Amino acid sequence: MLSLFPVSLTLVVSFVLSALAVPSSSLPNGQSIPLQRKTRPSRTMDEWGEWAKAHRDMLAKKYGPGQPQKRGAGTNLITNQNSDSSFFGSLAIGTPPVSYNVILDTGSSDLWVAASNCTVGCSGVPTFNPTASSTFVSNGAAFKISYGSGEAAGTLGEDTVQMAGFSVSNQTFAACDVVSSGLLSSPVSGLLGLAFRSIASSGATPLWEALVSNGAWDSPLMAFQYLDDPTAQSLEPGGSFNLGFVNTTLFTGDIEYVEMPTRASYWILPMTSLTVQGTSVALPSGSEAYSAIDTGTTLVGGPSEYMNALYSLIPGASPGSGNFEGYYTYPCDTAINVTVAFGGKNWPISAADFRLTRLTRDTCLGAFFDLTTGRSAPSWIVGDTFLKNVYSVFRYDPPSIGFAELSSTALALNGADGPVPTPTIGSAAATVTATGRGRPSQSAATGLENNLLIALTFVWTIILFSGIQL
Ligand SMILES: *[C@@H]1O[C@H](CO)[C@@H](O)[C@H](O)[C@H]1NC(C)=O
Ligand SMILES: *[C@@H]1O[C@H](CO)[C@@H](O)[C@H](O)[C@H]1NC(C)=O
Ligand SMILES: *[C@@H]1O[C@H](CO)[C@@H](O)[C@H](O)[C@H]1NC(C)=O
Ligand SMILES: *[C@@H]1O[C@H](CO)[C@@H](O)[C@H](O)[C@H]1NC(C)=O
Repeated sequence: MLSLFPVSLTLVVSFVLSALAVPSSSLPNGQSIPLQRKTRPSRTMDEWGEWAKAHRDMLAKKYGPGQPQKRGAGTNLITNQNSDSSFFGSLAIGTPPVSYNVILDTGSSDLWVAASNCTVGCSGVPTFNPTASSTFVSNGAAFKISYGSGEAAGTLGEDTVQMAGFSVSNQTFAACDVVSSGLLSSPVSGLLGLAFRSIASSGATPLWEALVSNGAWDSPLMAFQYLDDPTAQSLEPGGSFNLGFVNTTLFTGDIEYVEMPTRASYWILPMTSLTVQGTSVALPSGSEAYSAIDTGTTLVGGPSEYMNALYSLIPGASPGSGNFEGYYTYPCDTAINVTVAFGGKNWPISAADFRLTRLTRDTCLGAFFDLTTGRSAPSWIVGDTFLKNVYSVFRYDPPSIGFAELSSTALALNGADGPVPTPTIGSAAATVTATGRGRPSQSAATGLENNLLIALTFVWTIILFSGIQL
């Protein structure tokens, strides 16, 4: 679990290439299709009257009372699983709709859920049964995806998917029958990729991109507020995922937007500053500073050279060994003040978030770790350790990422031991008639041991083997 990268290139799969293949046009180059404009038919006064009434009735039907309201903004409540190790939301698939919990992941672009015939890696997990949905259409194509923490494989299909009041018919997703062990932990059934289509293993348009490009959202953006509670129970309220708007009660001051330096693939920003205890770590320039801003990754990973430089600024810090290789320990009585910047502003990470866990009475483990990513992935993966400290906004147009300071209202919600949110599908068009159920899980994850906590740190960033140049 600890040496997450590099993954052997013998695992190279060709599906990425075939999925990205663009169908060629059947028209020879240079040929044009003549456009025709119909001349307006001449109408009598009575005919105009009928037309006007029909037009009015049509508009009344479309926008009048009693019609389903077009939703421009929605909120999905997030659950915090296993003491900040992952954060999931909920969506519904099929007819009748059945709800599933999915990791909300800005580090990849595919939607997949465990299939009812999954026998590997789905123990205790609620699964999707294609035969139980009248609108499911299998497309038969094989699907496989590799993340920093493991893999999932299955078959592609299409169905109606609903989330936070929005609905996409014919959304392509994978029903997976083989999942790496330890990736899914009940009640989570799969993952919703929230990055751009160009890195989708399925080649399909991601749910969020379908919604935003169809103009379903009031604003072309999505935002996250995470509730922070390192001493949380196995399941707790985890914050909110805002679709199509920013919730102004959750942040204070301006949102600092920084335009992405690359064409849309991962959500990427260059890291421009990293300070520890007030001293700057010298950072690389250009693409070596590219950081995936990744809600699906628990911690912050970066090249070992810079991690080494960071921890050398903390008196008493030293590299971990054995199970802790790639991690660093430091004296627990030192409060660590790390800040990161992607634009102008330095964003502090709280000392409690930097402290991944206490290993012994005096020795603590840091949440920044060594990570060697493949040549197609950004060098840094900036996950929830950082994102818990800001309100984060992922904007489609112009492609940019924004951060803002959490409001006192948002901060006051941290650490609250409230009830776990029920699925927030919130659609006016359909009600959820069932919740996916799993067989009882063998491992109730309570009272986490240190090693288990490390095993529960995830890197849900897609590993690309070819194709994308950042
Ligand atoms: C599960 O079902 C899919 C679709 O029918 C099929 O392709 C796959 O082989 C099945 N997997 C198992 C493990 O039976
Ligand atoms: C979805 O697919 C079904 C079956 O292929 C088709 O009948 C339906 O028109 C499609 N709906 C949309 C909105 O594309
Ligand atoms: C905005 O956040 C506040 C605080 O969590 C919440 O009470 C409110 O319902 C949210 N608004 C929307 C539209 O989600
Ligand atoms: C953390 O470091 C930053 C940058 O040096 C500084 O501005 C800030 O006041 C420090 N915060 C704390 C809590 O010490």
